[in-house]
Amino acid sequence: MTNKVEMQETIEAMVQKGKGIIAIDESQPTIAKRFKPIDVDSTEENRRAWRSLLLSTAHLGNYISGAILFEETLLQKDEHGNSLPEVATSNGIVTGIKVDKGKIPLVNTPGDMITQGLDGLADRLQAYKTQGARFAKWREVYPISPGNPTTLGIEANAEVLARYAAICQSVGIVPIVEPEVLIDGDHTIERCAEVIELVQHAVYHALHRHKVILEYTILKPSMVTPGKESTSKASPEEVARHTVKVLRRTVPAAVPSINFLSGGQTDEEATANLNAMNSLYSGEPWELSFSYGRALQQAALKAWQGKTEKVQQAQDALLKRARLNGAARYGTYQKAMEKD
Ligand code: 13P
Repeated sequence: MTNKVEMQETIEAMVQKGKGIIAIDESQPTIAKRFKPIDVDSTEENRRAWRSLLLSTAHLGNYISGAILFEETLLQKDEHGNSLPEVATSNGIVTGIKVDKGKIPLVNTPGDMITQGLDGLADRLQAYKTQGARFAKWREVYPISPGNPTTLGIEANAEVLARYAAICQSVGIVPIVEPEVLIDGDHTIERCAEVIELVQHAVYHALHRHKVILEYTILKPSMVTPGKESTSKASPEEVARHTVKVLRRTVPAAVPSINFLSGGQTDEEATANLNAMNSLYSGEPWELSFSYGRALQQAALKAWQGKTEKVQQAQDALLKRARLNGAARYGTYQKAMEKD
């Protein structure tokens, strides 16, 4: 099979009506932070148990087409000895892998960050592929402040994302391109829109220069919202209007799907905002979908508490959030459905 045929098949499996992606690829420090409120230690066994619980949730594949895994999960097994990628596959879920190695400060641009991990990436991808990964994810991070992101930061981050995406495609892996503009700060929704427009414009310019085939990519952007510490709150309709306006200005129609991150929104906000986009803007050239981490896992984590006897309750909580986000893909979610 050629790389193009392989990537086309992966895209078709990932991009489906009424479905989105679940991100369960937290790095070791991040998963420890997520486990802390429920008093669970981040041991390898606890991480395995948690991610096995998520991937084996019955009927999850009705709403989830892809799962982004962390490196160690590719090699872990469920209680019956099945590898976790196999568990996902038998649930109708394609598996991908986070391949970046985290962010560091970008020298000479105070406040900006850059993500590491390009060296040896092609070899790592080949190995991940034999372990069941069909797509990859790489996250660049952009803080908003009066002076950030800088022009240099925007250009350097775009270049790295494009190099990552080109390397993925050279081995038949679909790249999820994630330029995350952080929600932290007290900035206005207009300032957020301005930054995301600059960032995405630079990303698509770089993808073009690196000859990345857009048809075999997925964009994972932030929604346009006011900063978390801002006193003004935006309705789902406002978030949808600003977000779709920026996407129209920056994302070519060749991109099949835009799968938002939740980035610190509450579960309900993330669902309501996605729903508004799909109910108000159904004729866009790309699918408007989700690739949530926290907004899909939070309720389930709270239900689980690290206890075997709570596994079913946690899976019920996950399935409910997945179902509601599945409805948001059609623009048919209503707040009353939270009570079902
Ligand atoms: P959140 O939805 O929690 O932002 O996570 C998505 C993700 O994969 C960030 O890289």
